[in-house]
Amino acid sequence: MNKLKSLFFLDPEVIFLNHGSFGATPRPVLENYQDWQRRLEKQPVLYLVRENQEHFRAARKELASYLNTDPDNLVYVPNATFGVNVIARSLDFQPGDELLTTNHEYGACDNIWAFLSQKKGLKVIQRQIPLPLPSKEEMIEIIWEGVSERTRLIFLSQITSPTAIRLPVEEICQRAREAGILILVDGAHAPGQLDLDLDDLGADFYTGNCHKWLMAPKGSGFLHIQPEHLDLVDPLVVSWGWGENCPYDNDSRLQAILEWWGTTDPAAYFSTPAAIAFQQEYDWDQVRTVCRKMLGGVLRKIEELTGLPSIYGENEGSFIQIGAAEWPADWKPESLQSWLYDTHKIEIPVIHWGDRWLIRPSVQGYNRQLDLDLLVKVLGEYKKNVRSKR
Ligand SMILES: Cc1ncc(COP(=O)(O)O)c(C=O)c1O
Repeated sequence: MNKLKSLFFLDPEVIFLNHGSFGATPRPVLENYQDWQRRLEKQPVLYLVRENQEHFRAARKELASYLNTDPDNLVYVPNATFGVNVIARSLDFQPGDELLTTNHEYGACDNIWAFLSQKKGLKVIQRQIPLPLPSKEEMIEIIWEGVSERTRLIFLSQITSPTAIRLPVEEICQRAREAGILILVDGAHAPGQLDLDLDDLGADFYTGNCHKWLMAPKGSGFLHIQPEHLDLVDPLVVSWGWGENCPYDNDSRLQAILEWWGTTDPAAYFSTPAAIAFQQEYDWDQVRTVCRKMLGGVLRKIEELTGLPSIYGENEGSFIQIGAAEWPADWKPESLQSWLYDTHKIEIPVIHWGDRWLIRPSVQGYNRQLDLDLLVKVLGEYKKNVRSKR
């Protein structure tokens, strides 16, 4: 993996262990992105009008094949937040309708439902999944016990942000389908970490990021919609694609209403196939296997240091490249993230979740075992410092 580090522009002075928040894009993918940007500057009308649909079509086709689905049900969006908003704003929630979710979701997405609570009287049912995690079967039951006759939508992350756990979305999708309840999966962390098969998963709505673990340039995400729901979707921003007089030769209504929302540069979308090709060329299955092993090792060492149990409980080992370990609430967790960066240039999130604190390392192809060893060493120093001051 040492060779891979030279393919990234990351500051060599920084130990970067936070790919989960904002990932880095490798050189060949960034060069492809910049080529697209130069094409725009060379002949803007050719790029943004005449050839625009052709480039979208090619980029969508590659992504659809990677996600194992039909390009007609897929649309590029700038990010997962946008994708969740599209669905949240398209469903006609009535006062008292319920949104079923968990206490492990991403804060910006929690805000979307809180906003709709205020605006439309949506009731948010947040199921509490404890840490350490119970068994998968118990997680499914905890979530499903929140279903009522008012449940309009289930919203779950496939891999959660604050806690870096995998929720049992496959099983919940199946139950939701049987019960006729809509489900929206937040796959922000999934492409590039999991082998996705969206047709097999069968979620009504699925949004994901290409700019995280797939390492596409920032501003590349997607929204996938089952064909029976295509007419239900509204644009977030109404533009040329809406209505009878759409001047573009789009493949579907979905793409017409969502892929053009005023002038922006779709270069991040057009270079997403280069990100897929990069991971294939560099055997990313193997890279992920090595990362996962390194991540397992560092989580275990942090747990030894703190004396706290693994948060994964009965799902031990269910992480891939992003994971979390608890940090004691009385060991100054609120200063740990800035201390790590200011003193040792280690970029890693320390997250306040409920009344717990979690340290959340990401391990990507550019990381080395040395990075993780240094993290464990300086966490030991921090522990010594806070404990000697008692
Ligand atoms: C689970 C989850 N959902 C959604 C998002 C939002 O991603 P973006 O900022 O790319 O929209 C994130 C970002 O980290 C996330 O972790």
